Amino acid sequence: MWIIANWKSNLTVRESVELIEAVGPKLTKNENVQLVVCPSFEALTEVRKQVQVNGFPILIGAQDISPFPKGAYTGEVNGESLKEIVDVCLIGHSERRQNFNESDNEIRDKVERANESGITPVVCVQGAETPVPDLVKVVAYEPVFAIGSGNPDTPENANKVAALIKQTNTHQELEVLYGGSVTSENIKAFLEEENISGVLIGGASLNASEFLKILDKCAFF
Ligand code: PGA
Repeated sequence: MWIIANWKSNLTVRESVELIEAVGPKLTKNENVQLVVCPSFEALTEVRKQVQVNGFPILIGAQDISPFPKGAYTGEVNGESLKEIVDVCLIGHSERRQNFNESDNEIRDKVERANESGITPVVCVQGAETPVPDLVKVVAYEPVFAIGSGNPDTPENANKVAALIKQTNTHQELEVLYGGSVTSENIKAFLEEENISGVLIGGASLNASEFLKILDKCAFF
Protein backbone atom coordinates (compact mmCIF):
# COMPACT_ATOMS: atom_id res chain seq x y z
CA MET A 1 0.00 0.00 0.00
CA TRP A 2 1.15 3.50 -0.88
CA ILE A 3 0.82 6.61 1.25
CA ILE A 4 2.17 9.56 -0.70
CA ALA A 5 2.37 13.05 0.79
CA ASN A 6 2.49 15.86 -1.77
CA TRP A 7 3.67 19.04 -0.07
CA LYS A 8 3.30 21.01 -3.33
CA SER A 9 4.80 24.51 -3.13
CA ASN A 10 3.52 25.10 0.40
CA LEU A 11 6.70 24.98 2.51
CA THR A 12 10.10 26.64 2.62
CA VAL A 13 13.20 24.46 2.94
CA ARG A 14 13.32 25.13 6.68
CA GLU A 15 9.61 24.35 7.14
CA SER A 16 10.02 21.11 5.18
CA VAL A 17 12.89 20.02 7.45
CA GLU A 18 10.88 20.96 10.54
CA LEU A 19 7.95 18.86 9.35
CA ILE A 20 10.06 15.78 8.60
CA GLU A 21 11.78 16.17 11.99
CA ALA A 22 8.38 16.29 13.70
CA VAL A 23 6.95 13.28 11.88
CA GLY A 24 9.95 10.99 11.28
CA PRO A 25 10.88 10.02 14.85
CA LYS A 26 7.28 8.93 15.58
CA LEU A 27 7.15 6.44 12.71
CA THR A 28 7.60 2.72 12.99
CA LYS A 29 8.39 0.65 9.94
CA ASN A 30 5.34 -1.05 8.46
CA GLU A 31 6.29 -3.62 5.82
CA ASN A 32 2.90 -3.19 4.12
CA VAL A 33 3.19 0.56 3.65
CA GLN A 34 5.39 2.49 1.24
CA LEU A 35 5.41 5.96 2.74
CA VAL A 36 6.60 8.62 0.29
CA VAL A 37 7.10 12.31 1.04
CA CYS A 38 7.29 14.72 -1.91
CA PRO A 39 8.82 18.07 -0.91
CA SER A 40 9.42 20.86 -3.43
CA PHE A 41 12.64 20.57 -5.49
CA GLU A 42 14.72 22.97 -3.40
CA ALA A 43 13.89 21.06 -0.19
CA LEU A 44 14.57 17.55 -1.54
CA THR A 45 18.20 17.29 -0.52
CA GLU A 46 17.73 18.56 3.02
CA VAL A 47 14.69 16.37 3.65
CA ARG A 48 16.49 13.34 2.28
CA LYS A 49 19.47 14.05 4.50
CA GLN A 50 17.22 14.03 7.58
CA VAL A 51 15.59 10.78 6.48
CA GLN A 52 18.92 9.07 5.85
CA VAL A 53 20.77 10.30 8.91
CA ASN A 54 17.92 9.37 11.22
CA GLY A 55 16.85 6.19 9.42
CA PHE A 56 13.21 7.27 9.07
CA PRO A 57 11.11 4.68 7.15
CA ILE A 58 10.30 7.16 4.38
CA LEU A 59 10.95 7.24 0.64
CA ILE A 60 11.54 10.57 -1.05
CA GLY A 61 9.58 11.62 -4.12
CA ALA A 62 9.74 14.56 -6.53
CA GLN A 63 6.64 16.43 -7.65
CA ASP A 64 7.75 16.67 -11.26
CA ILE A 65 10.58 15.75 -13.63
CA SER A 66 11.97 17.25 -16.83
CA PRO A 67 10.63 15.71 -20.06
CA PHE A 68 14.18 16.11 -21.42
CA PRO A 69 17.37 14.23 -20.62
CA LYS A 70 20.43 15.96 -19.14
CA GLY A 71 21.47 18.92 -21.30
CA ALA A 72 20.86 22.54 -22.25
CA TYR A 73 17.37 22.92 -20.78
CA THR A 74 17.53 25.93 -18.47
CA GLY A 75 15.51 25.57 -15.30
CA GLU A 76 14.69 21.89 -15.76
CA VAL A 77 15.44 19.10 -13.27
CA ASN A 78 16.48 15.95 -15.12
CA GLY A 79 15.88 12.34 -14.16
CA GLU A 80 19.51 11.33 -14.02
CA SER A 81 20.19 13.98 -11.41
CA LEU A 82 16.93 13.40 -9.53
CA LYS A 83 17.70 9.70 -9.21
CA GLU A 84 20.50 10.60 -6.78
CA ILE A 85 17.83 11.99 -4.43
CA VAL A 86 14.44 10.37 -5.09
CA ASP A 87 12.86 6.96 -5.62
CA VAL A 88 9.47 8.14 -6.85
CA CYS A 89 8.15 10.98 -9.00
CA LEU A 90 4.64 12.40 -9.36
CA ILE A 91 3.84 13.11 -12.99
CA GLY A 92 0.90 14.95 -14.56
CA HIS A 93 -0.70 16.34 -11.42
CA SER A 94 -3.86 18.25 -12.41
CA GLU A 95 -2.32 21.47 -11.06
CA ARG A 96 0.46 21.06 -13.62
CA ARG A 97 -1.98 20.17 -16.41
CA GLN A 98 -4.04 23.30 -15.55
CA ASN A 99 -1.38 25.87 -14.66
CA PHE A 100 1.42 24.78 -16.98
CA ASN A 101 -0.61 23.32 -19.84
CA GLU A 102 1.06 19.95 -19.49
CA SER A 103 -0.11 17.73 -22.32
CA ASP A 104 -0.53 13.97 -22.44
CA ASN A 105 2.50 13.83 -24.76
CA GLU A 106 4.68 15.73 -22.31
CA ILE A 107 3.49 13.48 -19.52
CA ARG A 108 4.44 10.45 -21.61
CA ASP A 109 7.93 11.90 -22.13
CA LYS A 110 8.30 12.52 -18.40
CA VAL A 111 7.30 8.92 -17.67
CA GLU A 112 9.98 7.74 -20.13
CA ARG A 113 12.64 9.91 -18.45
CA ALA A 114 11.62 8.61 -15.01
CA ASN A 115 11.74 4.98 -16.15
CA GLU A 116 15.10 5.46 -17.87
CA SER A 117 16.47 6.91 -14.65
CA GLY A 118 15.10 4.14 -12.42
CA ILE A 119 12.56 6.40 -10.71
CA THR A 120 9.03 5.03 -10.15
CA PRO A 121 6.54 7.30 -11.93
CA VAL A 122 3.18 7.89 -10.22
CA VAL A 123 0.87 9.34 -12.86
CA CYS A 124 -2.10 11.43 -11.76
CA VAL A 125 -5.29 10.91 -13.77
CA GLN A 126 -8.75 12.42 -13.58
CA GLY A 127 -10.56 9.26 -14.57
CA ALA A 128 -10.44 6.29 -16.95
CA GLU A 129 -10.43 8.70 -19.92
CA THR A 130 -6.96 10.07 -19.04
CA PRO A 131 -4.32 8.14 -21.02
CA VAL A 132 -1.86 6.12 -18.96
CA PRO A 133 1.53 5.90 -20.69
CA ASP A 134 3.18 2.50 -21.19
CA LEU A 135 5.31 1.09 -18.39
CA VAL A 136 3.41 2.91 -15.66
CA LYS A 137 2.58 0.74 -12.67
CA VAL A 138 1.08 3.25 -10.26
CA VAL A 139 -1.59 5.84 -11.01
CA ALA A 140 -3.46 8.20 -8.70
CA TYR A 141 -7.11 8.90 -9.44
CA GLU A 142 -7.55 12.53 -8.45
CA PRO A 143 -10.86 14.15 -9.46
CA VAL A 144 -10.28 17.91 -9.79
CA PHE A 145 -13.35 18.81 -7.71
CA ALA A 146 -11.89 16.94 -4.73
CA ILE A 147 -8.42 18.51 -4.70
CA GLY A 148 -7.94 20.94 -1.83
CA SER A 149 -11.70 21.44 -1.58
CA GLY A 150 -12.62 19.48 1.52
CA ASN A 151 -15.05 17.66 -0.76
CA PRO A 152 -13.64 14.18 -1.43
CA ASP A 153 -15.10 11.67 -3.84
CA THR A 154 -17.00 8.87 -2.11
CA PRO A 155 -14.93 5.75 -1.42
CA GLU A 156 -17.51 3.72 -3.40
CA ASN A 157 -17.21 5.90 -6.50
CA ALA A 158 -13.42 6.09 -6.20
CA ASN A 159 -13.39 2.30 -6.11
CA LYS A 160 -15.58 2.12 -9.24
CA VAL A 161 -13.34 4.55 -11.10
CA ALA A 162 -10.22 2.66 -9.96
CA ALA A 163 -11.73 -0.58 -11.34
CA LEU A 164 -12.54 1.18 -14.61
CA ILE A 165 -9.00 2.57 -14.89
CA LYS A 166 -7.66 -0.95 -14.50
CA GLN A 167 -10.11 -2.35 -17.09
CA THR A 168 -9.23 0.40 -19.57
CA ASN A 169 -5.50 -0.27 -19.25
CA THR A 170 -5.30 -4.04 -19.28
CA HIS A 171 -1.94 -3.97 -21.12
CA GLN A 172 -0.32 -3.04 -17.84
CA GLU A 173 -0.90 -4.18 -14.27
CA LEU A 174 -1.82 -1.06 -12.32
CA GLU A 175 -2.05 -0.11 -8.70
CA VAL A 176 -4.55 2.74 -8.34
CA LEU A 177 -4.37 5.29 -5.52
CA TYR A 178 -7.02 7.82 -4.58
CA GLY A 179 -6.24 11.51 -3.98
CA GLY A 180 -8.39 14.54 -3.13
CA SER A 181 -9.22 15.85 0.36
CA VAL A 182 -8.01 12.72 2.15
CA THR A 183 -7.90 13.21 5.93
CA SER A 184 -7.46 11.12 9.06
CA GLU A 185 -11.26 10.91 9.20
CA ASN A 186 -11.84 9.41 5.76
CA ILE A 187 -8.61 7.55 4.89
CA LYS A 188 -9.70 4.22 6.31
CA ALA A 189 -12.83 4.09 4.12
CA PHE A 190 -10.73 4.62 0.98
CA LEU A 191 -8.12 2.04 1.96
CA GLU A 192 -10.81 -0.55 2.62
CA GLU A 193 -11.96 -0.42 -1.00
CA GLU A 194 -10.89 -3.38 -3.07
CA ASN A 195 -9.38 -1.52 -6.02
CA ILE A 196 -7.63 1.24 -4.07
CA SER A 197 -3.98 0.55 -3.24
CA GLY A 198 -3.19 3.72 -1.33
CA VAL A 199 -3.70 7.46 -1.16
CA LEU A 200 -2.11 10.70 -2.31
CA ILE A 201 -2.46 13.37 0.36
CA GLY A 202 -1.95 17.10 -0.04
CA GLY A 203 -3.18 19.55 2.60
CA ALA A 204 -3.58 17.04 5.43
CA SER A 205 0.10 16.07 5.19
CA LEU A 206 1.27 19.61 5.98
CA ASN A 207 0.35 19.44 9.63
CA ALA A 208 2.49 17.06 11.71
CA SER A 209 -0.23 15.91 14.08
CA GLU A 210 -2.81 15.35 11.32
CA PHE A 211 -0.20 13.56 9.18
CA LEU A 212 0.65 11.28 12.13
CA LYS A 213 -3.04 10.57 12.75
CA ILE A 214 -3.35 9.54 9.11
CA LEU A 215 -0.37 7.22 9.40
CA ASP A 216 -1.81 5.73 12.57
CA LYS A 217 -4.91 4.70 10.60
CA CYS A 218 -2.69 2.77 8.17
CA ALA A 219 -1.10 0.70 10.91
CA PHE A 220 -3.98 -1.76 10.59
CA PHE A 221 -3.53 -2.54 6.91
P1 PGA B 1 -5.48 17.54 -1.17
O1 PGA B 1 -4.49 17.40 -2.42
O2 PGA B 1 -5.27 16.34 -0.29
O3 PGA B 1 -5.06 18.83 -0.51
O4 PGA B 1 -6.87 17.59 -1.71
C1 PGA B 1 -4.29 16.16 -3.04
C2 PGA B 1 -3.39 16.32 -4.23
O5 PGA B 1 -3.50 17.33 -4.94
O6 PGA B 1 -2.54 15.46 -4.52
